[in-house]
Amino acid sequence: MNIIKTDNRQQLYEQAATLIAAQIIAKPDSVIGFATGSTPEGIYQNLVERYKNNFLDFSAITSFNLDEYYGLAGSHPQSYRYYMQEKLFGQVNINAEKIHIPDGSRKDAGAACQDYEKQMAQAGGIDFQLLGIGRNGHIGFNEPAEFFPGDTHLVDLTEDTLQANQRFFASREEMPTQALSMGIKSIMKARKIVLVAFGEDKREAIEGMVNGPITPQLPASVLQLHPDVTIIYCPV
Ligand code: F6R
Repeated sequence: MNIIKTDNRQQLYEQAATLIAAQIIAKPDSVIGFATGSTPEGIYQNLVERYKNNFLDFSAITSFNLDEYYGLAGSHPQSYRYYMQEKLFGQVNINAEKIHIPDGSRKDAGAACQDYEKQMAQAGGIDFQLLGIGRNGHIGFNEPAEFFPGDTHLVDLTEDTLQANQRFFASREEMPTQALSMGIKSIMKARKIVLVAFGEDKREAIEGMVNGPITPQLPASVLQLHPDVTIIYCPV
């Protein structure tokens, strides 16, 4: 694992955006896995600036997002599709037909997950996967469990995650309790992984991921087994 510590969040955004930009410049038709949440927001802003300054061309990339709330239509302001459209996709020249996000509005969650795995395989797999990490060590919505989930699947969100994310919803009742998420196998198949995190409340999860035992109780610890992982962590 390659670990980069930054002094401030701006540096984190800059460094992560540089790695994504380098990937797209080296391979314009890269398949990129994107994450949502508060951590990547500044990274996406940085990428948008690079695009507006003509340093970056998204036209040939294919994208796959890690996860989506189950039961929310893509038009819901708290859906991850909406987030991606607002923060990145709507502001750059990505081809809309090459955007993939698990379909949380589809009744048959199992079929939605199977189709998602097929689409990733058809695209040739993910070249570069951006990840955040939950306070409990989750990646995507792979929550602490007795085993590592494999493929894209329907997840029951844990109390910790519900608490962490309810700030985005008007009320707790409005917040979905389930999500569709790439599994650990889907994530580990990515050729390159960059995980970003900031804040004191992520310190324990980062420490466990890097130095602790590999255990599904801290899902991110599985990344110790991946050959190309960069972690960018800003403690403040
Ligand atoms: C989001 C995702 C989650 C977040 C994690 C950290 O697509 O997969 O695993 O990366 O919950 O979220 P923030 O960045 O809001 O702390």
